Amino acid sequence: MTEVCKEECSTALGPVEKWSVRSGSVSVEIISLGCVIKSITTPDRSGQSYLSNPRYFGAVVGRVANRIAKGRFVVDKKEYKLAINNGPNALHGGLKGFDKAVWTTEAVENGVKLSHSSPDGDEGYPGNLNASVTYRLEKNTLSVLYHAQTDHTTPINLTNHSYFNLAGQGTSDIYDHEVTISAESYLPVDDTVIPTGEVKSVEKTLFDLRKPVLLGSRLKELPGPGFDHNFCLCSPGEPPLERKCARVVHPGTGRVLEVSTTQPGVQFYTSNFLDGTLKGKGGAAYSKHSAFCLETQNWPDAVNQPHFPDALLRPGETFSHTTRFTFSVL
Ligand SMILES: *[C@@H]1O[C@H](CO)[C@@H](O)[C@H](O)[C@H]1NC(C)=O
Ligand SMILES: *[C@@H]1O[C@H](CO)[C@@H](O)[C@H](O)[C@H]1NC(C)=O
Ligand SMILES: *[C@@H]1O[C@H](CO)[C@@H](O)[C@H](O)[C@H]1NC(C)=O
Repeated sequence: MTEVCKEECSTALGPVEKWSVRSGSVSVEIISLGCVIKSITTPDRSGQSYLSNPRYFGAVVGRVANRIAKGRFVVDKKEYKLAINNGPNALHGGLKGFDKAVWTTEAVENGVKLSHSSPDGDEGYPGNLNASVTYRLEKNTLSVLYHAQTDHTTPINLTNHSYFNLAGQGTSDIYDHEVTISAESYLPVDDTVIPTGEVKSVEKTLFDLRKPVLLGSRLKELPGPGFDHNFCLCSPGEPPLERKCARVVHPGTGRVLEVSTTQPGVQFYTSNFLDGTLKGKGGAAYSKHSAFCLETQNWPDAVNQPHFPDALLRPGETFSHTTRFTFSVL
């Protein structure tokens, strides 16, 4: 039995809605500004506490999440230039991406559907694009269905950045989390975090997370500030079947998060740059390695890498992807 309810708040950007969806002891709050998941509450062995949110926390990122090298791409022999907002690159859909739009909402069975129309030329992208995201909570599984259609070929890559710390709100690090990612390969990146183009086997590397790995000790071994890498869940051209891709366990509280997706990749990010100045619920500061993100997605910079999975949506096609997050207790 899932309860769905809505509240309206007025903000500087106009009316913004907050939807609450509850099923048993799991509840999720969704905000129409940015199609944001504001909070997810899941039980631990004994009670309840929050998993949280600022910055891109919980927002839907689009049209193209992550970085596009130099903010440029070519579609049908025409070059497009995007807003540059991250060093020399375009990040997360530009200056006013989908995370800064107020989405329209409607109740659906066990959840809420949010829709957003992005006009031709929005942040430099071609075509009028209609996008929707449906959040449903069924028992202890939150499913997120992404849909989009366009009237002109455009790159697309909708994802949702959700930061988790299974130990609960206000916990300083994720070192005691055990992570498993079912990926045979990953994408090495250059010093601006753009994939070099190589699809590298995880075998005998620090990126082999196929068996549970304690994050603290692995982060110590890893050169650089932490994980910010795409793990490849299928080969380019494979049909988009839903597969289990990640499992994270926090032995202390017993909380378990499992993620499955139809997307070809998952970006594993360990909050390498959060500097402790952002305050979350209960005044908790978000600092380096205080949370992790599992962003299911197409591979980074796929618009510019012909051997990566196709990142273009053409007129008449439907972009459709599902990601499911299952919360349980050991
Ligand atoms: C987007 O939605 C509008 C309003 O429903 C519709 O008129 C338009 O044809 C849609 N565009 C695409 C590309 O589906
Ligand atoms: C968005 O983020 C929440 C966590 O904050 C997650 O549970 C949800 O499944 C995410 N949606 C998608 C589509 O990734
Ligand atoms: C899709 O988004 C992900 C994650 O944010 C990103 O890593 C990837 O490069 C994007 N894919 C494309 C084709 O742009």
